[in-house]
Amino acid sequence: MRKFLFFIFSFLILGIFSQPICPSGYKKTNDKCLKLHTKSLKHLEAEHECSQFGGTLATIKNAVDNRAIYTLAASAGVKSIWIGLFCYANRNSTMCFHDDNSGPMIYKNFPLGDPDLHGNNGCVFMWTSSGQTSAQWGTSSCGVVGMPFVCEAPFTLPDPTCTHNYNGYCYLPSHELKLFKNVTSNSTYSEATAICASFNATLASIHSKPEVDYIHALFKNSGAQGLILGALPADGFYWNDGSNWDYSNVNPLDKSNESCLLMDLAMKPNYGLWSKTDCHSRNHFLCKRRISQEAVPEKAKRSSDNERRPVSGQL
Ligand SMILES: *[C@@H]1O[C@H](CO)[C@@H](O)[C@H](O)[C@H]1NC(C)=O
Ligand SMILES: *[C@@H]1O[C@H](CO)[C@@H](O)[C@H](O)[C@H]1NC(C)=O
Ligand SMILES: *[C@@H]1O[C@H](CO)[C@@H](O)[C@H](O)[C@H]1NC(C)=O
Ligand SMILES: *[C@@H]1O[C@H](CO)[C@@H](O)[C@H](O)[C@H]1NC(C)=O
Ligand SMILES: *[C@@H]1O[C@H](CO)[C@@H](O)[C@H](O)[C@H]1NC(C)=O
Repeated sequence: MRKFLFFIFSFLILGIFSQPICPSGYKKTNDKCLKLHTKSLKHLEAEHECSQFGGTLATIKNAVDNRAIYTLAASAGVKSIWIGLFCYANRNSTMCFHDDNSGPMIYKNFPLGDPDLHGNNGCVFMWTSSGQTSAQWGTSSCGVVGMPFVCEAPFTLPDPTCTHNYNGYCYLPSHELKLFKNVTSNSTYSEATAICASFNATLASIHSKPEVDYIHALFKNSGAQGLILGALPADGFYWNDGSNWDYSNVNPLDKSNESCLLMDLAMKPNYGLWSKTDCHSRNHFLCKRRISQEAVPEKAKRSSDNERRPVSGQL
């Protein structure tokens, strides 16, 4: 009986620890992690701000999300917010697309049904003051008008030991690792692989554009120009951590025959491209560790390591 109770108790504890949580600063609202920014930014600047945390401007795909986002902004006294939607054509809803790359708009709340661009380019906002237009959408000029905005980020898992916790993984950038004196951020592919292993992690694989943005932001103040990735060649490339090659940012113009991939960390538009590089060259790197659910048997852990997305399939 005591054994049984212990079992139940452990199960409860495990249940608590493995619950997905929102990243710090984000609030769980209707199955999304949301954060209101009250400072006014232009649409592109707002998108950039959200991307620093691996997120996007909030995308709204049903009336419940719309209401939740309205409430978040309205309760802070904000009059309007940018949302993660862009329309390319006047009065044609089929030409509106979500910011998270999920494709064409699947829910809308424009007063006339279709977006009226008034000759603007079509960045979409929501009216969040109370009154007739509350929670309805309009379009405004992307590059001129500044307004508050709501960001959305993926769920993750709790890990008090982890500083950079994103989408169920802990990220350990080389410039922050407390390394032995003999190893620096300046490492070859195989040295970096060994260093990551000593932290129970692997050299990072990357699976989405928001993840590229998140990683880019991690190295913002490191002075690093490039980051060696956990990829090796075989009929293209594969991720050495066993995850699927489901996203690629390889520079299409790179005809080099080298065997490693280096992600560009420079501060420029179109940053983050992956170029081929000599595996013996020395570079910064990033270790990535799946946040484990305590006490999951070692065997089960290993087989589930092959699933890429532990928490949310949103990206
Ligand atoms: C909307 O755009 C699509 C794609 O360009 C086009 O096929 C369709 O005819 C347009 N609809 C209207 C009402 O203009
Ligand atoms: C660095 O030093 C540690 C401890 O002395 C040693 O175990 C490790 O192999 C060394 N690493 C490299 C890359 O030389
Ligand atoms: C990186 O390491 C190599 C070999 O240890 C050394 O020659 C080079 O100067 C180092 N570069 C930096 C930026 O530390
Ligand atoms: C790595 O995992 C082992 C076994 O689970 C553990 O003993 C060790 O403390 C871990 N090392 C680090 C750096 O987390
Ligand atoms: C790449 O090509 C150069 C010259 O064509 C050759 O010397 C080098 O060994 C090749 N490297 C690899 C990794 O195949």
